[in-house]
Amino acid sequence: MTYIAAPNRYQSMEYRRCGNSGIKLSAFSLGLWHNFGYVNNFENSRNLLKTAFDNGITHFDLANNYGPPYGSAEANFGRILDLDFRSYRDELIISSKAGYDMWDGPYGNWGSKKYLVASLDQSLKRMKLDYVDIFYHHRPDPETPLEETMAALDLIVRQGKALYVGISNYRPEEAAKAFKILKDLGTPCLIHQPKYSMFERWVEDGLLDLLEQEGVGCIPFSPLAQGLLTDKYLHGIPEDSRVATSGKFLNESHITPDKIEKIAKLNGLAQQRGQKLAHMALAWLLKDKRVTSVLIGSSKPEQIVDSIKALQNTSFSDEELTLINTILK
Ligand SMILES: NC(=O)c1ccc[n+]([C@@H]2O[C@H](COP(=O)([O-])OP(=O)(O)OC[C@H]3O[C@@H](n4cnc5c(N)ncnc54)[C@H](OP(=O)(O)O)[C@@H]3O)[C@@H](O)[C@H]2O)c1
Repeated sequence: MTYIAAPNRYQSMEYRRCGNSGIKLSAFSLGLWHNFGYVNNFENSRNLLKTAFDNGITHFDLANNYGPPYGSAEANFGRILDLDFRSYRDELIISSKAGYDMWDGPYGNWGSKKYLVASLDQSLKRMKLDYVDIFYHHRPDPETPLEETMAALDLIVRQGKALYVGISNYRPEEAAKAFKILKDLGTPCLIHQPKYSMFERWVEDGLLDLLEQEGVGCIPFSPLAQGLLTDKYLHGIPEDSRVATSGKFLNESHITPDKIEKIAKLNGLAQQRGQKLAHMALAWLLKDKRVTSVLIGSSKPEQIVDSIKALQNTSFSDEELTLINTILK
């Protein structure tokens, strides 16, 4: 059956301007790192994208090596685009990235112009797209001159293969240098994608200030710390959780007694606020207007519907913020 998107999809979502750009992003974006590979159930992947879009999420985030196997999330996404989303292409912001290992040999990793240009060509073929809306350098490369990596991003935009560019996992000093090079080239950086959650707060030491000053958007990834910032691990490891089903990037060793104690205390505070812990963890990021969108993952469509309920209360009292800081110490 032909998919028809929910007619009211733009009514309850919030849209935030991305830095000083012309683009607004939905306050929630959906990432395809997990749950979209050939190893996953295709119909579930399809339903995740439909549920996201039906609820006002306009931004889908990919990378060359999402899967497993590498490339399969993009290939599945291309298939789902054909099946369901082709007529909605202009309502979508689709991103991809290169910077981690993708293919064998010296040209399939890091930040050379050779790698970035070839990788995006491959991504476009897999996704059956003429262009992506955002192309990222996925992580800084200590060996390639930053000028070369940024020139590759500029070239890609001039070739019409991406509309905007971003960087991910860059610390403030290297991000500042990248922004300057990109600005001088005439392709300003649209967005920075850092890891940011209640459990991972390095961006508060200078990055958020820099982004505000430079007019660059911010899209925190793993805002739920891959599911730790929910109530699901409080009483063991559920069979359908990421720890049990994947275990590669999040495993039992991350669920320490100290973490569980913090999660339990945060869960108690969330309940006092009339929220679930997942809602409070997402709202805590969205309280900062420098955060353009939070980049969530989901294994089930219901989680998307649940997570966006965080928008119902994104304000925190000073007492609540102090208590959160005390718990997280
Ligand atoms: N730039 C980078 O280097 C980088 C790195 C990592 C990720 N990312 C991007 O960020 C995206 C999100 O990362 P992430 O998947 O780690 O994000 P996350 O939102 O922190 O974790 C998502 C996981 O949490 C659980 N979950 C989600 N909503 C829930 C809810 N309402 N209640 C209970 N559990 C819930 C699900 O896991 P279960 O399987 O347990 O149900 C879900 O798969 C990725 O897809 C990718 O696009 C970027």
